[in-house]
Amino acid sequence: MPKLHQATSGIPEPLQNIWDFAGFQPYYTTGLGAAFHIDSMEMLKAMPSSSLDLVITSPPFALTRKKEYGNEPVERYLDWFMPFCSEIKRLLKPQGSFVLDIGGAWVPGVPVRSTYHFELGVMLSREFFLAQEFYWVNPAKLPTPAEWVAVRRIRVKDAVNLVWWFGKTEYPKADNRKVLQPYSESMKNLIRNGYKAKKRPSGHDISEHFGKDNGGAIPPNVLTIANTESNSRYLRRCRELGIKAHPARYPESLVGFFVDFLTDKGDVVLDPFGGSNVTGAVCESKRRSWITCELNLDYLNGSLARFEDGPLLTRPSGSLPETLFTEI
Ligand SMILES: C[S@@+](CC[C@H](N)C(=O)[O-])C[C@H]1O[C@@H](n2cnc3c(N)ncnc32)[C@H](O)[C@@H]1O
Repeated sequence: MPKLHQATSGIPEPLQNIWDFAGFQPYYTTGLGAAFHIDSMEMLKAMPSSSLDLVITSPPFALTRKKEYGNEPVERYLDWFMPFCSEIKRLLKPQGSFVLDIGGAWVPGVPVRSTYHFELGVMLSREFFLAQEFYWVNPAKLPTPAEWVAVRRIRVKDAVNLVWWFGKTEYPKADNRKVLQPYSESMKNLIRNGYKAKKRPSGHDISEHFGKDNGGAIPPNVLTIANTESNSRYLRRCRELGIKAHPARYPESLVGFFVDFLTDKGDVVLDPFGGSNVTGAVCESKRRSWITCELNLDYLNGSLARFEDGPLLTRPSGSLPETLFTEI
């Protein structure tokens, strides 16, 4: 494992192209990105307009059962969250995208669903243009709330997160050729043996082009990704340091899908609720510049393990566990 380095200069060069970050000291940096220990609202307000290609994030949800990092209750959620979104809109380039992973919630004490995440989507589609809604299916979700799902058995597992994709304009940059999926066996057969153009029972005319090999299948807006990370370097490193792993991480492949789909190499991506910095690590591996904000220092310390080459630490070493400066 690589050593962590104390940085001499702050912000990596690709980010200096968008802003000098004066007055904002990163907690650590890499060749392409910077993680800040900060309330993201402070940062968002200070950043220059039209500077970002993608904002992708998973904010604290309005859960009935509180997470350790604090969640706003459903009644206050929209008032809390909308000011962040207004700033995000200002910061996006005209062709930029805002991707928001948001889980559902239950009304406390009864087997009734909250509608806050739908209301949020409706409110945001007045601020932005709703490019498309995605459904992230996580087959590994636990059967909760236990009372309704596992004990009384009157509801089923809630295994879907809504992932809202908004554009600042009607045409955010996107290219589905960058996220093609392997063809199914039947489609492979069809390509091999040719397709006879015909009218479907639905009335749609399917032309011979349908049987053409385009290098892969166009993905649907349903992304099935089991969130089952159990033996990653991130988790091992957290255990070694005695740091509690972040309790609500999203999977790398979810972030990777949108980064591939909506950005190009060299673009700038922000995650204002960075947690364990999955966003930064994915962007680093895909050669995008990135900015992450996170309030909780433990989460940031754990996130250092996500970077192959050892990020550059710009904080005084006294504020960090000594072990971070040894070989990891
Ligand atoms: C759902 S978690 C994000 C997890 C992250 N996507 C990951 O995969 O590790 C939300 C995070 O937002 C952080 N947070 C909440 N309010 C914040 C704020 N105003 N500024 C920065 N971070 C904040 C919380 O500490 C928490 O770690």
